[in-house]
Amino acid sequence: MFAIDQFVADCRAALAADRSHKLVREVVAEAVSDSPSLLKGLGEPHGSGIHKLYHAADLTILNVIWAPHMTIMPHNHQMWAVIGIYTGREDNIFWRRIPGGRGGRVEAAGAKALSARDAEPLGGNIIHSVTNPIPRLTGAIHVYGGDFFGAERSEWDPESLEEGRYDVAKTIRMFEEANALCRVA
Ligand SMILES: [Fe+2]
Repeated sequence: MFAIDQFVADCRAALAADRSHKLVREVVAEAVSDSPSLLKGLGEPHGSGIHKLYHAADLTILNVIWAPHMTIMPHNHQMWAVIGIYTGREDNIFWRRIPGGRGGRVEAAGAKALSARDAEPLGGNIIHSVTNPIPRLTGAIHVYGGDFFGAERSEWDPESLEEGRYDVAKTIRMFEEANALCRVA
C-alpha cells in the first residue's frame, strides 16, 4: 500500500540525486501507476481541499482534491512542479505574458489534458490555470521543488487576465468554498 512517509523519503532521495524534477517525476509516475494503492494510502477523497503531506524550503508535497467542475485562475509557481493524477481529470491551460501587455496580461498558449496515471512535469516559469472538467472529485499529488506556501509569485485575474500578487490564503479559501458548494448540491 502507498505510504506517505516512504513517498516523502523517495522524493527527498530523488531531489538529493538531481535538483531538477526529473527523478521526482519518476517517483510520482510510479505512485500514480497504482491508483488503488494510492487511494487506500491517502484515503478516498470526500471533499475538495489542499492537503499538505510534506513542506520544506526545497520541497512541498500536496494532495490536491478538486471539486467537480472547479476552475482555478492562471498562476505561476516560480519553481518546478510535478502533477500526478490518481483519480479523475485535470485540464491545464498554459498561458504566456503578452510582450508589453497592459498590467502584465497573459494570453493562452497551449493546453494539456491530464488523466489518472499521468505524471506531468511543469517548468519553473510555467503559468497555468486548472479545471476539473468532470462531475466528481479529482485527486492529484502535486510536488513542488521549493516552498509552495512561502514563495513570492503571481496570479492573474480570471476576467481581466491582469497580473496580481499570488495569495495562497485565497487559493485555500477557493477550495473550501467549492467544497461547501458541492455539499449543498
Ligand atoms: Fe499550479
